[in-house]
Amino acid sequence: MLGIDLEAARRLGCGAGGWKTLLVLVTSAAVFFSSGTGRVSIWFSSSSFPAFSSQSDIAASSSNEERVPPPITPPPPPLLPPASSPSSAPPGFLAPSPSPVGYGPKAPPLRSDGPTSTTFAPPPHANKDRSAVSSPPEPVSIKNNTNATTISPVPPPTASSYAEEVNASAPVVPISLRETDIQLWQAKREIAVAPLVLNDSDLYAPLFLNVSVFKRSYELMERILKVYIYKEGEKPLFHTPVLSGIYASEGWFMKLMEENEQFVVQDPDKAHLFYLPYSSYQLRHHLYVAESHSMQPISSFLRDYVNSISAKYPFWNMSRGADHFLVACHDWATYTTKLHLELQNNAIKAVCNADASEGIFVRGKDVSLPETYVRNPKKPRASIGGNPASKRPILAFFAGQMHGRVRPILIHHWKEKDDDMRIYEVLPKKVARNMSYIQHMKSSRYCICPMGYEVNSPRIVEAVSFECVPVVIADNFVLPFEEVLNWSAFSMVVAEKDIPKLKEILLGVSERQYEVMQMNVKRLKKHFLWNEKPLKYDLFHMILHSVWFNRLGQIQQQ
Ligand SMILES: *[C@@H]1O[C@H](CO)[C@@H](O)[C@H](O)[C@H]1NC(C)=O
Ligand SMILES: *[C@@H]1O[C@H](CO)[C@@H](O)[C@H](O)[C@H]1NC(C)=O
Ligand SMILES: *[C@@H]1O[C@H](CO)[C@@H](O)[C@H](O)[C@H]1NC(C)=O
Ligand SMILES: *[C@@H]1O[C@H](CO)[C@@H](O)[C@H](O)[C@H]1NC(C)=O
Ligand SMILES: *[C@@H]1O[C@H](CO)[C@@H](O)[C@H](O)[C@H]1NC(C)=O
Ligand SMILES: *[C@@H]1O[C@H](CO)[C@@H](O)[C@H](O)[C@H]1NC(C)=O
Ligand SMILES: *[C@@H]1O[C@H](CO)[C@@H](O)[C@H](O)[C@H]1NC(C)=O
Ligand SMILES: *[C@@H]1O[C@H](CO)[C@@H](O)[C@H](O)[C@H]1NC(C)=O
Repeated sequence: MLGIDLEAARRLGCGAGGWKTLLVLVTSAAVFFSSGTGRVSIWFSSSSFPAFSSQSDIAASSSNEERVPPPITPPPPPLLPPASSPSSAPPGFLAPSPSPVGYGPKAPPLRSDGPTSTTFAPPPHANKDRSAVSSPPEPVSIKNNTNATTISPVPPPTASSYAEEVNASAPVVPISLRETDIQLWQAKREIAVAPLVLNDSDLYAPLFLNVSVFKRSYELMERILKVYIYKEGEKPLFHTPVLSGIYASEGWFMKLMEENEQFVVQDPDKAHLFYLPYSSYQLRHHLYVAESHSMQPISSFLRDYVNSISAKYPFWNMSRGADHFLVACHDWATYTTKLHLELQNNAIKAVCNADASEGIFVRGKDVSLPETYVRNPKKPRASIGGNPASKRPILAFFAGQMHGRVRPILIHHWKEKDDDMRIYEVLPKKVARNMSYIQHMKSSRYCICPMGYEVNSPRIVEAVSFECVPVVIADNFVLPFEEVLNWSAFSMVVAEKDIPKLKEILLGVSERQYEVMQMNVKRLKKHFLWNEKPLKYDLFHMILHSVWFNRLGQIQQQ
């Protein structure tokens, strides 16, 4: 199959101020016409992407991060918005049930329109004494798929904090529970009584909301979790990871998941989670009709795919998709789930475009997938690291194209206004000659990460890689791994409306606070890096952990 450099196509299209790019394939070359300027470029590609070799290439490329604007604006509203309270839950929805303290965001309701339920008293916790104190017996309402009707009396909650959270009169709504779900339920109970971890040689506690919870959850994931990967789906739309470019996160996850021997299980009956191994990048590349401005072909394709696996196997219907997950980094990935309600509402969507304001990405259920810009797939960790706090003379740095609503405001207020604020559009050549994009990131105290067309930006992980404190400007963006990480410990989040006060805000951080944050970024780095062979607590495992953790949150207790 001919390698096609879509990034290059976009660079042309976007660079010309237009984005309509016509793709013409010639036997051994891809020819790109940019309709805006009539410029033509031919890539003779033996590999899918040109490997960057010099710092200046990298800098040029970084500062020219490419995006395709959405063909539909604004994104369509969800067909069925998630219910926020029991009374607003439509029939057949589970009332939301709060998570235990320190357990992360509340899981949203699970759509369920199955038959009548029975009430299932789960097995007692392994450690009765501790569970009696911290975690009272919790009834789980289920529909036993094998028709058993085990009805046990529901013990009342005992801990007062828990009693406040549980509304005993809330309607009991059916969900299908498999044997593997019971294992998840037990894991969830064990996490709720996680032994206290004060410090750990591998985990730096201040980075986490609750390091005890994270450590326990991670251990249990390693011990218990089994993932089934559907074999269905033709290449290259499925099973064909793209390992470079700005959408590389989905590719790396797919590659490492499919190669994995620890978590992957061949027998789907043993699986806790089901992975839909498609590439949103490949779907966009192969199914989008040039100039159509419509995501419809991609959305219908995904709808048909899910219908086919839910007809062929019992698993989708048993959970209505809630134990299925996708990992997709293209901006459109979030929107292209909308033609299949259960895919949109129930499946766990690990997506880069994690925008909480659109009603499609659901905080606590879906996973904010870090966007990583991989320049050279042979060396995903090339040139990482950066200067210590004392050797970062530049206060703030940004260089990039003018996408979306935030960057023009940033440029308006700060471009060439202040020597401390190195805010550029594309990094000017004369500046880059003296100091590359990456050198800027390694020498700046703060790296500004404004949203592009969508809320996400590869700059966040880029900043972390170069040990620069990220400053996120993207209202409604759900930060990666916010289920477990304490973002205030190593980043700044600045509201879009505060862009005029940006310098003041940054200068408001004391030297001591800054040094702590910068050291924390350094310690955080390993959690955001890809490894050819996954390492404990690295990016692959962090993503899988968040899917696991959010799935545990879905195992409802009423
Ligand atoms: C479940 O119930 C249905 C209808 O009542 C019945 O046809 C089916 O055989 C039952 N399955 C099992 C495993 O008992
Ligand atoms: C479901 O029903 C089957 C058959 O009666 C039984 O063996 C199994 O233990 C039940 N599972 C649960 C979770 O009750
Ligand atoms: C408990 O749930 C019932 C039924 O949904 C509702 O009417 C009631 O207001 C709830 N009570 C509290 C305290 O949330
Ligand atoms: C972390 O979670 C554990 C287990 O739920 C709890 O005992 C502990 O108090 C929590 N720690 C903090 C700092 O919240
Ligand atoms: C933390 O770890 C260090 C060594 O790694 C040890 O000396 C110290 O006692 C530990 N502190 C606590 C509170 O466990
Ligand atoms: C799952 O549900 C769909 C829609 O209700 C149905 O068409 C399909 O046949 C079901 N699959 C199985 C395996 O029963
Ligand atoms: C060039 O970069 C160095 C740091 O690498 C800096 O000290 C110097 O001021 C820069 N010169 C110009 C003209 O920007
Ligand atoms: C998160 O970090 C901030 C800044 O270090 C700190 O003030 C806050 O208490 C931390 N939150 C948690 C839950 O540890």
